[in-house]
Amino acid sequence: MLTAQALGTADLKTGKTVFNKSCGSCHKMYGEGGIVGPDLTGSNRTDPEYILMNVLEPSAEIQDDYKMVVINTRDGRTYSGNIISENQRQITMRIVGQDQVVINKSGILSREVTDVSMMPSGLFENLTQAEIVNLMAYLKTNKRVE
Ligand code: HEC
Repeated sequence: MLTAQALGTADLKTGKTVFNKSCGSCHKMYGEGGIVGPDLTGSNRTDPEYILMNVLEPSAEIQDDYKMVVINTRDGRTYSGNIISENQRQITMRIVGQDQVVINKSGILSREVTDVSMMPSGLFENLTQAEIVNLMAYLKTNKRVE
């Protein structure tokens, strides 16, 4: 499906739209996008294998900073996200799709660093073949797409 010909004739503009919808809430490309995951602009993204491996199995290889932390509090809440900062009294967490939360350490019942990525698996399952090809071509290009 990702032949050189398919990628060469793909629609980069649509690819960018797919990126913004499926990946942009967490990743930046050329300064636009979210900060939950690493900036992809300077990554190994021109290699389709690299993108595929990371999308199909996000938890296979995770840098420690991006491992999901799960905190349960005494008042019965569960927070899943990553820790942005921490002092003796409080933890500030980033939770996907929400504002940052500040949690008082005195209220914490349990805290666990999981081996799970904050990046969900199955992202390509909601995309059509054409959308995947366009997205891959967009990630591969070094041209800025407006
Ligand atoms: C809900 C947030 C989220 C979404 C949506 C998301 N990612 Fe990620 N992604 C992450 C996080 C967090 C990491 C770092 C941890 C890891 O490697 O699993 C990551 C890692 C990656 C990496 C490896 C980068 C590196 O430097 O190690 C690639 C490549 C990647 N994502 C591509 C994508 C693509 C392509 C999409 C859209 C189809 C996407 N991601 C959607 C959160 C997300």
